Amino acid sequence: MQDRPAWLAQNEATMPAGLDWLSPREHARVERLRFPKRRTEHLLRRWAGKTAVARSIGWTIDRATVSRIELLNHPGGAPYVELDGRRADLEVSLSDRAGTAVALVGPAGSDSGALGIDLEIVESRSEGFVVDFLTEAERTWVHARRVRDGEDGWQEAANLAWSAKEAALKVLRVGLRADTRTVEVTVDESRRADGWAAMVLTSAAVGVLPGWWRRDGVFLLTVAYPPGSARPDPPAVVPGGVDLAAAVPIHSWMGRAPLA
Ligand SMILES: CC(C)(COP(=O)(O)OP(=O)(O)OC[C@H]1O[C@@H](n2cnc3c(N)ncnc32)[C@H](O)[C@@H]1OP(=O)(O)O)[C@@H](O)C(=O)NCCC(=O)NCCS
Repeated sequence: MQDRPAWLAQNEATMPAGLDWLSPREHARVERLRFPKRRTEHLLRRWAGKTAVARSIGWTIDRATVSRIELLNHPGGAPYVELDGRRADLEVSLSDRAGTAVALVGPAGSDSGALGIDLEIVESRSEGFVVDFLTEAERTWVHARRVRDGEDGWQEAANLAWSAKEAALKVLRVGLRADTRTVEVTVDESRRADGWAAMVLTSAAVGVLPGWWRRDGVFLLTVAYPPGSARPDPPAVVPGGVDLAAAVPIHSWMGRAPLA
């Protein structure tokens, strides 16, 4: 495991059929999910998380080996990793959207703390959404993007602000139990050669969380790190994932009935 957190994307096409790549505990949990949408999303997040962890620690990606990597959840929902039934010295964060899931993996430790990742697509967001969920400064920025870049600028900015908040609220381990306006994002729009651009998330409760964002095709990816003085580099790419820029949003569960 290298010191720098790393991320990877997977989609439904790369996910193995069957459930023998899950541990018995994971299997039992999935069997309790009756609705295909929730079940597919849950599995896809596990597939992204397991492959990211496996590659990060040098394990092979085969059904038997990835079943030894468990992605479990604390009572509040935050994920953690067990390897062969023992808590791993790793931090992980998971997200999925429209048939693609992403995982961020990094070393645990006093300096690293929890990580946050979120995946969204650039999709229609209403004025009401912006008013209800964004701070005044964020609303001003989203409106300026519409003036400057038209409808795509509005949609990108609104979804990016939302995604950044979700990533930060995962770092804080509260998720959407918290008011999204308790964290305010300031976005740097100048992208680096590798596609990442910086953002800063300010929480009245804990201070400044550094973060990064990127847009690949219709996907927006955000990552947030725990509060700290130095700005960490953007996450490295775990080899072996799918290319987000070429990924097509899908909704394969639509129209399917709950499982019997
Ligand atoms: C965190 C949250 C905002 C993500 O929702 P989302 O955008 O619909 O879903 P994403 O795909 O981006 O992320 C889902 C992942 O977030 C992670 N997550 C859930 N709650 C989390 C929390 N409190 N802190 C950090 N990460 C959390 C989980 O890994 C989850 O995937 P998993 O259940 O398969 O492990 C949302 O799940 C939430 O608000 N959770 C807390 C409230 C809640 O309902 N908890 C249920 C208790 S079990």
